[in-house]
Amino acid sequence: LHCWLGYVLLCCIRHTICLEYAQGFNKYQDSETTQVYRGIIMVIRKRKQHHLLENGRPCPNPTHHFKKVSVVIPKTPPPPPPPSIRGSQEQDLGSQRISKKHRKLLKTSPPIQRINKSPSSSSSSSLSGLFSLQRWRKLSSILEQRRQLTKEMCAKYKSNVSKTITQHHVKNIFVEDKHKLLYCQVPKAGCSNWKRTLMVLAGIASDPQTINHDTAHIGNPLKTLNNFDRQGIMRRLGSYTKVLFVREPLERIVSAYRDKFENPNEYYHTLFGKPIISKYRPNASRSALESGNGVTFQEFVQYLLDVHRPVGIDIHWEAANQLCNPCLIDYDFIGKFENMEEESDLLLRLARAPRNLTLPNFKDRNLADERTSLKITQKYFAQLGPLERQRVYDFYYMDYLMFNYSKPFQVLN
Ligand SMILES: *[C@@H]1O[C@H](CO)[C@@H](O)[C@H](O)[C@H]1NC(C)=O
Ligand SMILES: *[C@@H]1O[C@H](CO)[C@@H](O)[C@H](O)[C@H]1NC(C)=O
Ligand SMILES: *[C@@H]1O[C@H](CO)[C@@H](O)[C@H](O)[C@H]1NC(C)=O
Ligand SMILES: *[C@@H]1O[C@H](CO)[C@@H](O)[C@H](O)[C@H]1NC(C)=O
Repeated sequence: LHCWLGYVLLCCIRHTICLEYAQGFNKYQDSETTQVYRGIIMVIRKRKQHHLLENGRPCPNPTHHFKKVSVVIPKTPPPPPPPSIRGSQEQDLGSQRISKKHRKLLKTSPPIQRINKSPSSSSSSSLSGLFSLQRWRKLSSILEQRRQLTKEMCAKYKSNVSKTITQHHVKNIFVEDKHKLLYCQVPKAGCSNWKRTLMVLAGIASDPQTINHDTAHIGNPLKTLNNFDRQGIMRRLGSYTKVLFVREPLERIVSAYRDKFENPNEYYHTLFGKPIISKYRPNASRSALESGNGVTFQEFVQYLLDVHRPVGIDIHWEAANQLCNPCLIDYDFIGKFENMEEESDLLLRLARAPRNLTLPNFKDRNLADERTSLKITQKYFAQLGPLERQRVYDFYYMDYLMFNYSKPFQVLN
């Protein structure tokens, strides 16, 4: 009985569906011990048949997460594995039950079914927004490779001491309960457009194109995951699709620098500009010191690399792995800004978003400025010496490794 109780409770921590086991269990709590035991079995069997096979997946083997608990697994066999389109690299991760954990969305993905049934499935120029099966498969396999690489890098470079997830680790993760999405924001990697889209998914707005920048950021009613209690956090982490979009790190910080320092921005100029100028600019003019305007890229980089920074690091230039903790949180979908259109489309279809919903492609601020590209990034980094360039690369080294970006520019070694 204690094993069962343990099993039920552990499941509850990770899975919505299993919460229902516990609710079923409550009904039997007043009865005799044997009846309780039978009750639980009955409830689990019943749920398994009616509910689980349709909507959910079996509870993961709790020993995977809670090594000390010995557990009795119900005899009912797990549902047959779904047709895998993520490749089979997960075999070595443990039991099949665990490997299924990550397939939730892909196994029920509607576009596959549609394409299979569609007579024009062989045509690559099918309906707009609809993936051809090949593109779909290819992208899915790329996404799976990304996940594996991140896992490998985490195993290799991060301490093996298993850390507990705290509210601090999930403070950048936005919650969309309706489609069960968790989106970790990486600023300058499409984050405003994702927030708009999440608002539409949540039913707060009807068209992402009509949401202005301030609403997407300041007035955004979406909650971040740290606003929930421990149970609410673990339940969502266990059953929602966890999403992250990354961008080439140097391009990302050039984009951040241009946005925050080359354009009027009282907040950033006061909070960051003033201390940066005062520490790194010899003979700064009084007006520069007072306004914090005109931080150069070189000064910004000096600040970034300084272990005794006069002011802390901001999310716009904090490394993506620091913002989203991919070694602690097992993201299902690691997208790339560089291929945003295709990958966001795939994700939205997987999440069963309304078919007319696509990620908007707004450039939010400083519309007159050209979008930050590799060419522009190189121009900025040409202002630095080789040693500084190398050190900026080193600063974002984990992002390069974890997200498989190649070394930028020939000059870096
Ligand atoms: C890393 O990126 C390179 C090219 O950009 C690609 O060929 C390779 O398959 C990727 N590796 C993984 C594990 O994703
Ligand atoms: C962490 O564990 C993995 C496998 O369990 C092992 O291959 C790796 O070397 C370990 N890393 C460290 C830093 O101990
Ligand atoms: C999508 O369609 C729904 C209703 O069919 C409509 O309310 C909504 O505004 C549309 N969204 C977009 C982005 O066009
Ligand atoms: C700063 O100003 C002083 C006096 O005006 C001058 O002697 C010094 O060389 C200047 N330093 C720099 C780095 O420009």
